[in-house]
Amino acid sequence: MGKVFVLDHPLIQHKITYIRDKNTGTKEFRELVDEVAMLMAFEITRNLPLQEKTIETPVMEAKAQVLAGKKIGLIPILRAGLGMVDGMLNLLPAARVGHVGLYRDPESLQPVEYYIKLPSDISERELIVLDPMLATGGSANDAIYSLKKRGAKHIRLMCLIAAPEGVELVKENHPDVDIYLGALDEKLDEKGYIIPGLGDAGDRLFGTK
Ligand code: PRP
Ligand code: URA
Repeated sequence: MGKVFVLDHPLIQHKITYIRDKNTGTKEFRELVDEVAMLMAFEITRNLPLQEKTIETPVMEAKAQVLAGKKIGLIPILRAGLGMVDGMLNLLPAARVGHVGLYRDPESLQPVEYYIKLPSDISERELIVLDPMLATGGSANDAIYSLKKRGAKHIRLMCLIAAPEGVELVKENHPDVDIYLGALDEKLDEKGYIIPGLGDAGDRLFGTK
């Protein structure tokens, strides 16, 4: 069964509080999402494999550790996942980026896929799916199916805020996928919004509504 990690680093928690605040405007919201994504990238890469390399320090020859060159792919779910890409790329500058376009039908709450463009070698990459919100879980669930259908083998999901309903759906359908969260909230309201959540992530990030 996939594991669920709530990344409770104080800086992540502090910034998510301001992301939630309805008085936080678009510019600051964007900056905070970017910063939290970078902090989450730091945590999520904790177990990346290392390999030994021999170098010359000014004093002597030494054996030291470098990243083993694991290939990473970032997969933002459009639109709101885009807000997390730059923060992640700050720490993972060589990562490739694929895009999955999905929107949630406001009546049925079912995800509708409208775009997909992925690196050609996704089967060899460690993929990290990015979306600030995991609400019913429909969007992330479908995005992961879409990636698997195209050959993806190693997938992780990273979200700022999740509802238990979304976590359960992804865990049930994708037991091989570990989930990394900034916060696990209480529940969904009758319109499928996360409570207390942050409202509509795409609208707040792009200033639409
Ligand atoms: C939001 C969010 C997720 C989805 C989560 O996107 O960014 O992709 O809702 O909800 P779910 O877990 O119930 O599927 P939205 O559908 O509003 O599209 P947008 O990013 O284009 O605004
Ligand atoms: N999508 C959002 O942007 N926010 C929610 O609370 C739920 C789905």
